[in-house]
Amino acid sequence: MKFLVGFIVGLLVLPLILVLLAAGGRLPVAAVDSPMPLEGTFAALGLNSRIKREAPNRSVTNFTPLELVSGADIYQKNCAACHGLPNQGVPPVGVGEFPRPPQLFTAVGRVSDDPAGVTYWKVKNGIRLSGMPAFEKSLTDMQMWQVTALVARADNLPPQVMDALKPQPPVIMVTAGAANPAESPAPAQTRH
Ligand code: HEC
Repeated sequence: MKFLVGFIVGLLVLPLILVLLAAGGRLPVAAVDSPMPLEGTFAALGLNSRIKREAPNRSVTNFTPLELVSGADIYQKNCAACHGLPNQGVPPVGVGEFPRPPQLFTAVGRVSDDPAGVTYWKVKNGIRLSGMPAFEKSLTDMQMWQVTALVARADNLPPQVMDALKPQPPVIMVTAGAANPAESPAPAQTRH
């Protein structure tokens, strides 16, 4: 009997502590907070096991430079704000997220050692409770493979693909007179 009571109390204590911590505003919910003990370990175990079950097996070594340039265009529009561009600093979004998005064109951040199918799975399905979006609904399957091929081969890309990964010039739209009204000509006087 004593054992049973102890067992039930034991079962209730941990969730109760978690509820009290959450209600008391003590859980690390901000992007700038440090991870909870074992948070990374559990997240990685769950993610890796799931990907192992589902990742397709496909090589991207035969993707042509043209397909990689198309991958670079998709990357510029959908990924660079978080994962950065070759030879550039970490972009502001990349600095502020938790977990930090790996910089996919740096020696430490690139995924060239991962099987392409694993990277494709991440692009398609996203990574829950991280900033990594799922692109299944916004990119076609071909686009997801092209951008996968690009980041999978980040360690060895042809020059025209590297060119396509240069920072894009900012688009500045100016309507005549609107940017600086003080300098626009005064409206003509009307005579009666
Ligand atoms: C809003 C920010 C954001 C955008 C946009 C984004 N990602 Fe991510 N991505 C992340 C974060 C954060 C992680 C790290 C997740 C983690 O550690 O669990 C990640 C992880 C990844 C990984 C896994 C890296 C590794 O080391 O295993 C790959 C590959 C990846 N992203 C590719 C892409 C591609 C390709 C795109 C564009 C099609 C993209 N991401 C767009 C934030 C982003």
